[in-house]
Amino acid sequence: MQRSFSMKSELEHLAIIMDGNGRWAKSRGLQRTKGHEKGAEVIRDITEYCSNHPTLQTLTLYAFSTENWKRPKLEVDFLMRLLDKYLANELETYCKCNVRFETIGDINHLSSSLQKRIETTKEATKNHNKLTQILALNYGSRDEITRAVNKVLDQNLVVTEENINKMLDTPYSDVDLIIRTSGEQRLSNFLLWQSSYSEFYFTSTLWPDFTPIELDDIIAKFYDRDRTFGGL
Ligand code: FPP
Repeated sequence: MQRSFSMKSELEHLAIIMDGNGRWAKSRGLQRTKGHEKGAEVIRDITEYCSNHPTLQTLTLYAFSTENWKRPKLEVDFLMRLLDKYLANELETYCKCNVRFETIGDINHLSSSLQKRIETTKEATKNHNKLTQILALNYGSRDEITRAVNKVLDQNLVVTEENINKMLDTPYSDVDLIIRTSGEQRLSNFLLWQSSYSEFYFTSTLWPDFTPIELDDIIAKFYDRDRTFGGL
C-alpha cells in the first residue's frame, strides 16, 4: 500500500513486542527456553485471530533484535532452532489462515539453512492474502534506517522522507497500534520510523500468557482513541 503517513483510524497494521518469556519460565521454575517454546505457540493463536480480523492486513512481531545476539550463545542457538521448527510447523497455519509470511531485518547473518527455510516459507505463502505476518529477525530500527539511507545514496537519489520510506524493509507501512507485553514501556529499537503516529498499549501480561481475548480487548480500546495525526 502506497502511503507515507496513514491518515486512517482503522486498524490495518498491528505490531507486537513479545516480551516476558524468560520471566514466565522463571516464575514456574522452568528453563528460559520453555518460555520461548510457549511464546512460539502463542504466536500461532494471535496470528489466527488476526487473520480473522475484518480490517487487519499486517501483523509485525519482534522475534529477534540486532541486540539479542548479546544473549548467551546457548539461548541464541535455541531461538534459531525454535524459529526453524516454528516455520516448518506453521506452514499449515499459514495455509489454513491464508497468511503470507514476510520478514524485516538483515537475515544475511542467519545460518544458511535458516535463510533457506525463510525463503521457502515466503515462496510457499506469497499468494496468501488475508494477512501478512512479518517476523522481525535480526532487526533493529536504526540499522533498517541506515540501510535505507544508504540505498537512497547508492541509487543517486535525493535523501527525502519519501525516498527513505521506499527503501525501508517494509515500504510505506506505518503502524497503527504497537503492543508491548510484560510491563516494560519502551520501543527497544523497534519500528522507530513507522511508529511516528502509532498508538501504544502496554500490558503487564507476559507474552506466553497473552491471549486473543486480551488482544480483542486492547483493539476495542484502540478504537476509543482519538487519532488526529498532528491535526485537530
Ligand atoms: C522476549 O522474552 C522474547 C524474545 C527474545 C522474542 C520473542 C521470541 C519468541 C516469542 C520465541 C519464539 C519466536 C519464534 C518466532 C519462533 P525475554 O526472553 O526477553 O523475556 P524476559 O524479559 O522475561 O527475560
